[in-house]
Amino acid sequence: MIYTLAIETSCDDTSIAIIKDKRTILSNIVSSQQKTHENYGGVVPEVASRLHAETIHSLLELSLTESGISLSQLSQIAVTVGPGLEGCLLVGISVAKSLSYALDIPIIPVNHIHGHIYAFTQYQQTLTYPALALIVSGGHTDLILMEKECSFKCCGRTRDDAAGEVFDKVSRHLSLGYPGGPIIEKTAKQGNMDAFKLPIAMKHSPFEFSFSGLKTATIDCIKSLDNPHDHVADICASFQKTVNETLMLKTLTACDHFKINDLIIGGGVASNQSLMTAFKDRIKSTNINLIHIKPHLCTDNAAMIGLAATHLGNLYQRKRSEIFVNSTFSYEH
Ligand code: KG4
Ligand code: ZN
Repeated sequence: MIYTLAIETSCDDTSIAIIKDKRTILSNIVSSQQKTHENYGGVVPEVASRLHAETIHSLLELSLTESGISLSQLSQIAVTVGPGLEGCLLVGISVAKSLSYALDIPIIPVNHIHGHIYAFTQYQQTLTYPALALIVSGGHTDLILMEKECSFKCCGRTRDDAAGEVFDKVSRHLSLGYPGGPIIEKTAKQGNMDAFKLPIAMKHSPFEFSFSGLKTATIDCIKSLDNPHDHVADICASFQKTVNETLMLKTLTACDHFKINDLIIGGGVASNQSLMTAFKDRIKSTNINLIHIKPHLCTDNAAMIGLAATHLGNLYQRKRSEIFVNSTFSYEH
């Protein structure tokens, strides 16, 4: 039996997971810092690193207890090394290295984006290639083409803001709170998605995204209203619909162009049910197999880091001394 301890501290969630063999999640504990950061309307990196350092050891103990595993039974340690906030990553990497030295077990440096992709292994064992992943989160809006195993090519990404970042900024403008995605999704349910016409950017560039124009257009729309608070639900619904349409347009164009079989959609924004329903609807008439990752594995969590490590271990082999923040690779191989 192989037990992998996984650590994720790249942004504002401290998370520890334990994976048995390749894909059995024994424990996946996430401690969110949302309550603290919502006072500032976004993540404050210094505060986030400090909170990771304060929380991580108790999470480790909880995770060991929950999975019924002792430290001495661990076979390897997987840790996110990037991309992410440097101070935050450092906390996870330091804990991983200390444990790796103390227990004399290997450490596996994992790319956060690979983690979001490999959450798919909870739903199906292998991919039919070529496959495509749309990773949409607070920091990324990336289209990643996988032509074969362990091959990742970014064929499109955002030129400016990430989709989740724009959810957060629009929410802040409407004084709805942080993180914006879940609040906007809930508020949008009461609204009319056709109330306001907002722009889809970069229509001429098939796989590239841009969300800063949509952010500005939404904020301008809010400013142009005499009583914006009477229209919050309509604004949320129209904004969300435009994000969904943008993501679908680029992703499905890429699916068509690369003749994609399996489509993975992951990252925090993929926990948006309206997005997933729209995607499912749109691909009904195609041969695309949509792998729908459940919300708790879409938002940042350590299990996905452990799953990437157990599936991509060979890609990641590094000496302990060579592992540091953003040390290893871009996610393109
Ligand atoms: O993947 P994630 O947990 O962290 C990063 O790697 O960024 O994603 C967090 C982002 C935030 O911007 C948050 O507003 C967004 O995902 N998000 C959502 C939803 N839940 C989280 N966006 C839209 N709808 C949601 N339900
Ligand atoms: Zn993430």
